[in-house]
Amino acid sequence: MAKVIIFGVLDSAELAHWYLENDSDHEVVAFTANKAYIKQDSFKGLPLVAFENVEEVYSPSEYKLFAPMTGRKMNKLREKIYLEGKKKGYEYISYISSKATNLGVGIGENCFILEDNTIQPFTEIGNNVVLWSGNHIGHHGVIKDHVFFTSHVVMSGHCIIESHCFFGVNATLRDNSHLKKGTLLAMGACLTLQETEEWGVYVGSPAKKLKDKISHEIY
Ligand SMILES: CC(C)(COP(=O)(O)OP(=O)(O)OC[C@H]1O[C@@H](n2cnc3c(N)ncnc32)[C@H](O)[C@@H]1OP(=O)(O)O)[C@@H](O)C(=O)NCCC(=O)NCCS
Repeated sequence: MAKVIIFGVLDSAELAHWYLENDSDHEVVAFTANKAYIKQDSFKGLPLVAFENVEEVYSPSEYKLFAPMTGRKMNKLREKIYLEGKKKGYEYISYISSKATNLGVGIGENCFILEDNTIQPFTEIGNNVVLWSGNHIGHHGVIKDHVFFTSHVVMSGHCIIESHCFFGVNATLRDNSHLKKGTLLAMGACLTLQETEEWGVYVGSPAKKLKDKISHEIY
């Protein structure tokens, strides 16, 4: 059980608060956000402090951070905040829903894993990964850092997901796929290719790469 500060004041932060309060032993003690986004001094009845100097108010030796942000800008914003928190000396918690089935070999820190995800045996998940509700994460897979699965994605067995990838709702990956860094698989896409290109955007069934589109420039 940890005393936790949640980063953010939008939907993801409000949801993180709800999940930690209702389905974890952690105690949420405060919220933090960048100064430019702070319009009041409390959120959800708890103190809201500037991220720029949060460590002066809540010591990293006593408190842990949780930064469950959206995947916009292909997870680069999430990565930036995650690394800034690390630099301040914080450890992060991960939240794994009691209603998820986790048979995998490991899950890193600052992961947000919601209800009805199935993580099969021998699959490893890195740091700062979001699995929104209801994904199938197949066996013998590897998911690296700063990756976002929305909902009802099917990742078949033996897939390797490099950092910063984003999966739209209902996307499907065949077994043994290797998704290169920053791949964006659109909602409903069915990936039959065994390998993608870095920062590529793939849509449709079978999924085709959108010409002249770079994922972090459009999403
Ligand atoms: C991939 C994605 C980001 C593209 O969005 P966009 O930049 O607004 O792209 P556009 O709508 O301009 O589409 C570009 C082209 O791809 C096609 N396209 C886009 N998404 C598609 C999809 N999911 N399936 C098939 N074709 C798609 C469009 O029809 C368009 O084709 P055209 O150029 O022949 O007209 C978006 O479709 C997507 O999948 N977003 C994720 C949604 C999601 O899962 N949200 C859950 C949030 S929790």
